[in-house]
This record gives sequence, C-alpha cells and structure tokens, in this order.
Amino acid sequence: MARLVRSFRKIIDSRLRHGPSPSQTRTYLTQSQRRKATTASVPKLSFPLIDHHYDAIVVGAGGAGLRAAVGLAESGLETACISKLFPTRSHTVAAQGGINAALGNMTEDDWRWHMHDTVKGSDWLGDQDAIHYMTREASKAVYELENYGMAFSRTSEGKIYQRALGGQSLKFGEGGQAYRTACAEDRTGHAMLHTLYGQSLKHKTNFFIEYFALDLLMVDGACAGVLCLSMEDGTLHRMFARNTVLATGGYGRAYFSCTSAHTSTGDGNAMVARAGLPNQDMEFVQFHPSGIYGAGVLITEGARGEGGYLLNGNGERFMERYAPTAKDLASRDVVSRSMNMEIKEGRGCGPEKDHIHLQLSHLPAEVIHERLPGIAETANIFSGIDITREPIPVLPTVHYCMGGIPTNYKGQVLSVAEDGKERIVDGLYAAGESACVSVHGANRLGANSLLDIVVFGRASALHIAENNEKGASHLKVPDDIGKESLGDLERIRTASGDIPSAKLRLDMQKAMQTDVAVFRTEDSLAAGNLAVQQVERDFADRLSVTDRSLIWNSDLIETLEMRNLLTCASQTAKSALARTESRGSHAREDFPERDDGTWMKHTLSWQKEGEDVRIGYRPVVMTTLDETECATVPPKKRSY
Ligand code: FUM
Repeated sequence: MARLVRSFRKIIDSRLRHGPSPSQTRTYLTQSQRRKATTASVPKLSFPLIDHHYDAIVVGAGGAGLRAAVGLAESGLETACISKLFPTRSHTVAAQGGINAALGNMTEDDWRWHMHDTVKGSDWLGDQDAIHYMTREASKAVYELENYGMAFSRTSEGKIYQRALGGQSLKFGEGGQAYRTACAEDRTGHAMLHTLYGQSLKHKTNFFIEYFALDLLMVDGACAGVLCLSMEDGTLHRMFARNTVLATGGYGRAYFSCTSAHTSTGDGNAMVARAGLPNQDMEFVQFHPSGIYGAGVLITEGARGEGGYLLNGNGERFMERYAPTAKDLASRDVVSRSMNMEIKEGRGCGPEKDHIHLQLSHLPAEVIHERLPGIAETANIFSGIDITREPIPVLPTVHYCMGGIPTNYKGQVLSVAEDGKERIVDGLYAAGESACVSVHGANRLGANSLLDIVVFGRASALHIAENNEKGASHLKVPDDIGKESLGDLERIRTASGDIPSAKLRLDMQKAMQTDVAVFRTEDSLAAGNLAVQQVERDFADRLSVTDRSLIWNSDLIETLEMRNLLTCASQTAKSALARTESRGSHAREDFPERDDGTWMKHTLSWQKEGEDVRIGYRPVVMTTLDETECATVPPKKRSY
C-alpha cells in the first residue's frame, strides 16, 4: 500500500512540475471520437496533441450552440460540439421570462408589430434585415421547440400561454400592451436547454464535454477549427472542421454584480480578438431592473408581466412618471435608469435608501404558483423573504451583452479589412450572446434572447448545411498551427508573479461596475479605461498561477477566463468612451441626446494580445429583407 501511495505521489509531483508528458497522458475519448482522432506534436513544445476532423464544430452548448448542433447533425454533417460545461449547465438554463413570437394566442398579434418593437427597443442601432428575419421566423421557431417536446405553459384551451413583457406593443405601438412571450412558468431557459440537449443526442452530435476552447485555428484569414484543452485529463486537441460556429455566450462576469453565470466569460469574443477580428458594439451592456439586491440573482421581468410593480422608498409607483403608458413594462434601459434616478435623488428603499422594491404580494396565489414558482423560491433563498407577504429588494444588475462578434443574419462572421471593405470570414459563424447580428442594437427587449439563440443557431446550421458536403476536404494548414496559442498557455500556466488572477479579476470587475455603469461620463469612462489598462499591465507583468498541472486546474482555467474577460472589458470601456451620445443602454450624462447624424453606426473594436484597443465603425443596416413584406421602421424619438 505504502509503495502504491509513493508511486502515485511521484506521478502527481511530476505532473505538477512539468505538466503531462506524452507517455503519462491518458485521454478519455469515446470509441467513435477515438476513431476520428490522430496524434500530432508541435516541435519545441512538449504538449502532446490530438487532432480531430469533423465537418462542423460548434463551440458552446447553450441554446444557440445546441440549436446549431441539432441542425448540423440533422443535416448529416459529422458534428462536434465542444463545451466547457455539461450542456444542461450552460447559462441558458437561467433564462426565466420566455421567448417572444407573435403566435396571437392571447390577443391578435402580427410579427411586424414585434419587428417594430424590436427596432424601437434597439434605439435604431439594430440591423433591420436581421430583425425582419428574426421576428418573421419566431413563430416557426417556437412551434419547432413545441414539436421537439418543450414543456410550455398552457392556456385553459391548451394553447401555448403568452405573458406580457417589457417594450412589447400591438399595432406598431398604438394598440397597448402585447402578450407575446411564450414561457414555461419562469423556467423557460431550463425547459429549452433540456429539450435541445435531447434533440442533439437524438441526432448523434459528438460531444466533447469539459473541453476549454483556447483559440481559433486561422489560416490565411479563414477559420480551420479550434484548439482546446480537455480539463479532465490535460490533453490538448486540435479540432479541425470546414466550418466552426462560436456560441460561447456573453461576458457579464466582466462586472462585479451580474445575473450571468460565473462561466459567462466572453471566451468566443476574446478568441476572435486574438485572431485579429473585430467585436461590435461592446459599449452596450444591459442592466436588468430586477437583480436581487446584494446577490445580483435574476428576478424575471415576467414578475412585472404578471402584474408586479416597482415601488420607491416613499411607496410610490414611480414608473408612472418616467413611462406614463408602459409604466413598469417600459423597456429595460428606461426602467433601470429610472430606478437609479430614484435612488440618486434620495427616494430609494431600506435604511441606506439604496435599492427599490418589487411588489408582488397582491398577486393571486395561483399566479405565483403556476407562473412564477421559481422566483418565489429564489427570492426566499437569496433575500429570505416570502413574496406573498413582502416586496423583493432589487437593483439594476448587469444582465446581457448586446455587443459581440459581428455577423450577418445567416450567422456568418464579418470583418472589415484595413482598406475599409467588409468581408465574410470563411468558415466562421457565431450565434447567441457571443454574436452581434445585430438584432438587439443598443438595448435588447426581454425574451428576444431565447428567440435570438434558436433563430440564429438554426440559421447558421442551415447556411452551413446548404453550402457544404459531408466529408468535404479541409483547409490545408501548417503542421504547427496553434503553436502561438500553446506558447500562451505555457506562459500563463507557469506565470510566477505576485498577483493571483482572482485579485486581478476583482480589480477589473470593480472598475467596470463603478466607471462603466448605467450612467456614464467622460470622466468616469476615462477612469474606467485607465483602471482596466492597469489590470492589463498587471496581468502581463505580475500574474501568479500557483497550480502548475493541466488536470482539473481551476486556477489555470479561471486565469484563462480572466484573460478573456479582460479583452471584453477593455473593448467595452474604450468603445463607451468613444461614443459621445446616449442611445439605449449607453447613457452618457454629458451627452444626454441620441445623435443619429453622427452615431447611427456600429462600433467595431480590435485588440490583439498585448496591444491597445483600436476602434472603427460600420453602418447600421436600415433596410429590411423585403420592403413589400415588411417596411423599414424609420427612426424617431423613443418614449414608452
Ligand atoms: O426577465 C427575464 O426573465 C429575462 C429575460 C430575458 O433576458 O430575455
């Protein structure tokens, strides 16, 4: 026994010192994955590599990734789906309120009204061709989920139940509140994710679970796949495919208080940046009005959709003053700003007057039990209250990143060359929160996110399937492709400075929360930029990673995630400083008006490893796919 322990300890010690050697490495691949894998090695780097070849790869297994994987696998393409989490743990599981589609189950409805509301919600920064596509396809997407077996809530007639949510109207804003949000109680994302995971298994998607994607494998401006690390056994894998779909989610964790999972670390956005490609509209970060005070956990807008309302410290329904028509169901940017104004002017709740109350105790018990059981539980766990008796203390909390990887409505990633010409990046797609299609522009409407992920996950799969044969040849790549990324990994794994990444992450999160917040000024944003740049310098010069192994090394993985967050934070802060107007979620106190003349354009931001952020712009698409089917929504002043 003692001998066994000694020899085991020797192996562990050696791995801690050097990382795995080829002979020590054991990989946990399934039989079919092993059939498609070959080993390779990169000169001068001791990492053993395993190469895989698929027709298509999806990175991320949330709603967008799984919907893309279902479509690709269903079309017959050999599809791999890589995820750092078990699929049903992806952040989509936390989505509560629902998915918008003009099904017309509660009142008459029309997808063109949904289109109008989405363009208005975006404060005219959304691309109207993409919004046209998304709202037109919405009903089809919801019925498809129903056919896949998703357990939607029902009306007494057995139709899919639809609730009211913010910023939704009938008759192009003239017909009052719309009831357009199909839901599964207040656990819609949970129901969707499990449904899509089941479908992806049915169609034989090859899952690589708990694999962390490190970098895109790029050759002559085209994407040939992705390099990743198996967190379980420390092996490194080059996954090659003619098409790669990034569906890696948002980067809410760049902020101190957010509703996003700890895993929302902008991995795809940072991979794209390291590959020399731009992100788009990163300054637009959504604050959800009802994060639980102190914990940041989401309380769905559906709570207000079912009849809840906000109260200030004087017990007033203050939203009546800010949005006389829509009141508590105005769009999120408007409600969050109004809450912050109340607090700023001394009308907050509690001893410190630093939060707002969400009143639900007047709702009938059956509404809470049938439509909002999840938030009743969450409010009890995180603030110890019984929502049938007391209001929930809430505060605007970072919830969603409108910016991301620029794509067209087919999911193809876009880039802009030095000569200013826009081009499609061959072999690369993006969908979901990591992408910026852009259907949300400067502010996303509640329940348009679950819609976005299924519509554009599906669109990416359709476009790849229509344009690629099963077993088509791969791009020719250099033998040592991925070596820079492996060098980065080695540098980070062995970093021996004096600041752990947890401390650097906190510095970044505090800077973003304080200075790149709901209200922004030149001074706050300049301070935010300086603080983030300091963290970048500290990350480069003083980072300390204490665990040297490659096996279940959470110190290393969190550091890699922190590096990704830092890229996103830096692009967000710089893009926000540059935009001298107020639009949607970007509220500049020093430039309070929207300025369409100068600023009706998308921001592009580039940042290669170790470089400063470079900013550029591209026009907003103001025309629909077909003006006879759906007219452009012309810009006007936004009010609710
Ligand atoms: O409030 C919510 O349920 C969130 C929905 C969403 O962000 O789409």
